[in-house]
Order: sequence, then structure tokens, then C-alpha cells
Amino acid sequence: MGIRAIGFELSLSQNVQEIMADCSRFTTKYIGEMVDYSAHLLSLHRKTLSQNYCPYYYRMSVKKEVVESLRQEYSSVSLSEKDVAKDPVKQFGKWFKEAMDAGVNEANAMTLATTSIDRKPSARIVLMKGYEERGFIFYSNYLSAKGKEMAKNPVVALVFFWPELERQIRIEGTVEKLTKEESEKYFHSRPKGSQIGAVVSPQSQVIEGRAGLEKSWEENETRYANRDVPKPAYWGGYVVRPQVVEFWQGRPSRLHDRIVYKKADKQSWKIVRLAP
Ligand SMILES: Cc1cc2nc3c(=O)[nH]c(=O)nc-3n(C[C@H](O)[C@H](O)[C@H](O)COP(=O)(O)O)c2cc1C
Repeated sequence: MGIRAIGFELSLSQNVQEIMADCSRFTTKYIGEMVDYSAHLLSLHRKTLSQNYCPYYYRMSVKKEVVESLRQEYSSVSLSEKDVAKDPVKQFGKWFKEAMDAGVNEANAMTLATTSIDRKPSARIVLMKGYEERGFIFYSNYLSAKGKEMAKNPVVALVFFWPELERQIRIEGTVEKLTKEESEKYFHSRPKGSQIGAVVSPQSQVIEGRAGLEKSWEENETRYANRDVPKPAYWGGYVVRPQVVEFWQGRPSRLHDRIVYKKADKQSWKIVRLAP
């Protein structure tokens, strides 16, 4: 006899450890799928309930009112060097939670700036997938344009902008690759379609057209229909270890607050205020 639960058949005769392992794999996969899915739903919601398509609903939209009230509330919010956390990652965590609570769209999207060996800067958006004591984590293709730049010059800048809260966070630091094991773990938590996407896309290279990419994706979907997609060696994570972190809070009359953390030594940070 078996219990059917969202595509999983759990046999009652399996021992408890096996069931726990199944549940753990299922939960990881399910959360990964839901995170991707909710991002799609949110953007769909934004499009369909936009001012052009549903003007009445848009005006009445609770979300809009919430955001407006946040704006009023936040323009009177201040940021003081006396109140901030001693550690910038802790302060980041506090602000990130507030951004999530406020429903900021793609609050984890950040601009990543790199430089070429001849000092030419370039910037693009990537998604932050974690922040912890050692720094800020994102994933990419190691052979992409940015990947090659970071290999040659492992110094980067990150910028978050959360307009709903009138907040900006700027981070400067050194970048290094995560371990293979860390990248593997994250890679396999992603939806299978995204895993195949990473396999078939030679990111940043010129390609003939879209058709070849789609054909390759379909071939690989069939190839890996009944087995795990191996993480390509050229795909993985990075951690940005911060050296300087600035928290910017919008204030009336352009007298914004700018609180900057500068790494003093291994353990401590110097906190200063800059003129807006
Ligand atoms: C919202 C958003 C999220 C993105 N997230 C990532 C990401 O996490 N990793 C990544 O490699 N590219 C991501 N991209 C694509 C990059 O912006 C960029 O096009 C790609 O990485 C190639 O950059 P490069 O040619 O400078 O290496 C994202 C783009 C957008 C708009």
C-alpha cells in the first residue's frame, strides 16, 4: 500500500530513515520550485494589474496603498550611526527583512560591477542567493564575461536599490568561488529546467540564434528525463567578502543618511557618516 503525495509514492514498508530522506529531498525541491514560481506570479500580477490593463483595480490595489503609505512612513525614517548593528552583514539582514516584509519586487536583485584587466568597468544584475558572516552569495557561469573578469581581477562592487523604502546598499569587496560541494548543493536545488538552461547556455558568447539554444535544451531534457543533471564544471557560486558597505536612507530635502562601514581589522568595522 502507498500514500500518494504530490508525485511521491511513499511505501509504508519503507523504513523511517528512507522516508525522512525522501521528505527532505522533496522539501528542498518543492521550496526551490516555489521560489521560482512565486517570482513568475509576482511579475504576472504586476503586468495584468497594471494601470493600462486594470486602471480601477490598480487604483484600488491594496498593494499600491501599502507601498504609498510605506513611502510616507519611510521618508521620515532616519538612519543613525548610533542605532546600526556593529556588523554590516547583520545590518544588511535587518534591512533585507524589511524589504521582504514591504513586498519589494526582487529585493535580492543586485547590480554586480566588475572590471576588465585594462580597467574597463561593466555591470549587470544578478540574484543574491544568500548572505552570511563571510559575505554575499550569487551564482553564475565561470566562463561568462563577468566570470573571466572576476578571475583576473577579483574585486567587485554590488548595489541593491529598494525604491519602495528609499534605500540603497553599496558593497565593495573581494570575490571568490564557493566550493564545488556548495555549488553542487545549490545547483541541484534549482528546478530541472533551470539546471538544463545552465548546461546548454554558453553565457556571454555569440550564438547563431535562439533555435539552436532551444533545440539543445530539448535534447538535454530528454537525455536527463530520468536522471539528475550533472552540474557543469563551468557553473557555480561566488561569495563577495565585503570591505566597505554603505547604507543609504532617503530623507527629505535631499539630506539623506549615508552610513558607511569600513573593515578595520579581521573582527571589527569602523562606522562613519558621509555627506549626502
Ligand atoms: C533580474 C535578473 C536576474 C539575473 N540573475 C542572474 C544571476 O543570478 N546569475 C547570472 O549569471 N546572470 C543573471 N542575470 C543575467 C545577467 O544580468 C547577465 O545578463 C548575464 O549574467 C551575463 O552577464 P556577462 O555577460 O556580463 O557575464 C540576471 C538578469 C536579471 C535581469
